[in-house]
Formats: sequence, structure tokens, C-alpha cells
Amino acid sequence: MALAGEPTPAAAANVLGIAAGGGVNAAHATGASGTAASARGVARVLLYVARAPDETLIAQLKSRGWQVAAARSAHELGRLVKPDLACAGIVDLASFAPRDIGGLETSLRQQQVGWIALATNERLNDPLVRRLVRHYCFDFVKLPVAHATIDYLAGHAFGMVALCDPEVAPPVGESGDEEMVGTCEAMQQLFRTIRKVANTDASVFISGESGTGKELTALAIHERSPRRKAPFTAINCGAIPHHLLQSELFGYERGAFTGANQRKIGRVEAADGGTLFLDEIGDLPLESQASLLRFLQEGKIERLGGRESIPVDVRIISATHVDLDGAMRDGQFRADLFHRLCVLRVDEPPLRTRGKDIEILAYHILHKFKNDNARKIRGFTPSAIEALYNYGWPGNVRELINRVRRAIVMAENKLISADDLDLAGFTEQESMTLTQAREAAEKRAIEAALLRHRHRLTEAAADLNISRVTLYRLMGVHGLRELGGTDDKGALAADEPARG
Ligand SMILES: Nc1ncnc2c1ncn2[C@@H]1O[C@H](COP(=O)(O)OP(=O)(O)OP(=O)(O)O)[C@@H](O)[C@H]1O
Ligand SMILES: [Mg+2]
Repeated sequence: MALAGEPTPAAAANVLGIAAGGGVNAAHATGASGTAASARGVARVLLYVARAPDETLIAQLKSRGWQVAAARSAHELGRLVKPDLACAGIVDLASFAPRDIGGLETSLRQQQVGWIALATNERLNDPLVRRLVRHYCFDFVKLPVAHATIDYLAGHAFGMVALCDPEVAPPVGESGDEEMVGTCEAMQQLFRTIRKVANTDASVFISGESGTGKELTALAIHERSPRRKAPFTAINCGAIPHHLLQSELFGYERGAFTGANQRKIGRVEAADGGTLFLDEIGDLPLESQASLLRFLQEGKIERLGGRESIPVDVRIISATHVDLDGAMRDGQFRADLFHRLCVLRVDEPPLRTRGKDIEILAYHILHKFKNDNARKIRGFTPSAIEALYNYGWPGNVRELINRVRRAIVMAENKLISADDLDLAGFTEQESMTLTQAREAAEKRAIEAALLRHRHRLTEAAADLNISRVTLYRLMGVHGLRELGGTDDKGALAADEPARG
């Protein structure tokens, strides 16, 4: 997913072109004369880890243009893996003793290496081996296998990682549909936060009004994290009936209850190796909160009706649009769980505080959906733009998408009007009294200060040159107390270094 509006080096697009082309060509060029990539001077590095590396395989790979670096142990491999170098990797899982295989995981997890696994039928029966192959390998082959096949698969794997080498090509436009638009300071800060938190494994809590992009942010974090090749599993805690939540989250064994005819893997277990996004966490009933807390403390789950503790490695991101502080005060949400979930905090800015981005987003949406109307719509009338800025956007980006899509269908001219957006009442500035205008300006200034200071009231108040008490009173007047009500003792801000 691209974070549009984030500063990218001017040369990035060119670099991407070369890397992608080199990678793709490398993937298909298996001729003895060398590869398109090596012909262009793009090094094709290949890591090969085996307890006793096969010298004839190494010779064959070198003759195909690979720069082979061999390792005999997890330790040696760890020293060969370079964080900023896209390369292919061959891991001979058949050659290691079962007890040594776990040690390879750290290196297998590195997203800049496209791994191909070599294994035997017998080895593939080992659950650990199956998991490593499933989570981290681009492909696997059963031994014995022709060297040319390994060369071919490694070429493909190299092509894939070169395409998404995070240094060369920040995940640009992989899914144009999911582009995250934002140029204002608040969004730039959000993008910086996303990049920072993506590099850690700490739990992230995303707070923001409905439709501000919480799920999109969670996905952006996952896609930029070392877990990006593993699943991103989203659960809407509010949408699953309470009596089914436990089994949905943790799964069950056959016979656990009447009707449990076969084992079911829960969503937590299914996210193993990846990211688990717990949406609307505030709706989680207390019973499930206790089980979730136990899982977060122990890193293990038990399926319903099962006796086995199963280790599960997931990164947790949670989100809510409700006031969790209030829920904690009322005893509806466990404070100990909240502190586990909210090691890092991300606040989504409401759309009405994003200034020019409102217009940029409106054009972005128009561009995306303009084909919904046979008449080619070119833009918005000046009064439609005025209305976009005057309206308060309670439903945030989702509401903007809905209004613009509707307007595209309804518009009878080449420019979308305020009427098409159903915002005709928000165009006549003169109908606003001076008092209303002052109030609106005051509210905007307070919201912006709260965002700048991540809802730390003392700092926001100092910035606004008012007392903390006055700020709190004004937040009440403008209905700003419900959201993000952390005070200065609140969660660690995302800009601060992660603990542990
Ligand atoms: N910055 C952005 N740029 C482009 N599209 C965005 C942006 N933020 C949100 N969207 C789009 O707005 C819609 C709502 O976003 P999302 O579902 O992530 O919001 P949410 O905060 O999870 O909402 P809710 O609280 O209702 O669950 C999605 O279609 C998403 O793609
Ligand atoms: Mg959501």
C-alpha cells in the first residue's frame, strides 16, 4: 500500500523501474549465457544454507550468474543476511537435525530474502518445518531435485523480492485501491508513526472516529513490517455474537461441544506469524477479555475442549472508535488488558482537521470512481469545494467516499455541485453568524492542538495559551471529550521508543 503524499526521494520511481525490471527478467532468464539482470549489472545474490552445502549445486548456480554465499549453520546464516539487500535464498531443511531447524527462523523471517526450501517427504511431516515453509518460503521442492529447477525457482523468488524490496521500492502502488492519501501535517505525522511502529513487534492501539482509516492504518503497519509475508487477520469484535467469540478467537477441538464435529482453528492461531487486527476492541465481552489477556501474557492459546497449549506468534493491533477510558472507568473494559494492547498509540485525525487534504481526497475518489458515470466528470464546482470545507464530516473519509460516489452517479454536468454532494446547505458562508464562526474556529484550533500533542492535555493547553482546566471545559462545550480522552498519564506515545 502506498502512503500518498509521503516524502519519497525524487529518484525512487527510477530505482523502482530498474529493480522491478531486473527482478522480473532475472526470474525468467535461465539461459546459460547469464541473466538479463546480471547483464545490466544488478547483482543476483543467493544465500544457501545447508549443513553440508552441495558443491556441485554451488558450481552450477555460479555458472548461471548467481553470487552464492553459503552458510553451514543458523549462526553463519545470520551473519550473511544483510537488511538492505534483496536476494534469493535456498534453505536445505532436510540437511539439519530437527533440533537445529528452529534456529533458522530469524533469518527465514527476513523479508528481503526470497526463500526456496529443500525438503524430504519425511521432513515435511514435522509441524515446525511445515510452518516455516508456509510462512517464510516463496516455494519448496522435494529432494532429490534437478539443479536447474532450483536455479529457476530461486530466479523467481529473487524477482519477487526485488519487486518489493522495501529500501528500493516502498510498497508503492501494489494495491492502488488501498492508497492512503495525506499531505497535511497530521497525516504526515501519521505516516511517520506508521513507519516507526512497523519496525517493532509491540502492540499498537489505534484510536479515531468512525471512518478515519483505522483499518487502513493497521494494514499499512502490517505491510511495512517484517511480518508482511504472513497473514493479516482482521476480526471485528463487535460483529461476532458474544457466545461465538471464544470459539472464533481460539478455535475448538472435535467433540468440545454438541455439533463440534471437527477441529476448528481459531482466528488467533490462523494469524500465526502475522498480524492480528482486533477491530472494535471496546465491544469485546469481559469473558473474552480475560482469555485475550491470558494469551497476550503467555503467547499460547488453548482450543476449546483441548488440553494442549499451542504457542502462537502474532503481532496485535487493536482499534476502537469508542471511549475506552470511559469503559475502563465503568468496569466494562479491563485496564490491565488495555495496557497490554496499547504499548504504542496511534491517533487518526478526523477528516475535518485535515485542511487541504479534504479536497485532495475528494479528487482522489473522483478519479477512482469517475467511470461510474458515462459522462466524464472533470471536477467540482467552487461552491462544492466550499461545502467540502464547511461540512463537519462526522463519518470522515468513509462518508466522503460515499458522498462523492453518489455525486458521480447523480451529476448531470461535468462538474459536481454542492447539491450533487447533498451539501447545498453548507455553501452560504454569510448565513453563519460571527459567534458561530468564532465557535467553529475555536473548535478547530482545539482539535488541532489535541492532535499535535496526542491528547496530552497539559501540553495542548500550554500550546493554546490557556489553562488545563479551561481546555477541559472547552472540550466539553465542543463535544471533544469522548474521543481520545487520554490524559497525561495515558499510553506511551508512538513517537517514543518502544519498550522491550
Ligand atoms: N487517508 C486515506 N486515503 C484514502 N482512503 C482512505 C484514507 N483513510 C480512509 N480511507 C478509506 O476510507 C474508508 C474507511 O476506512 P477504514 O475502514 O480504515 O476506517 P475505520 O476508521 O476503520 O472506520 P470504522 O471506525 O467505521 O471501522 C475505507 O474505504 C478506506 O480505504
Ligand atoms: Mg474499521
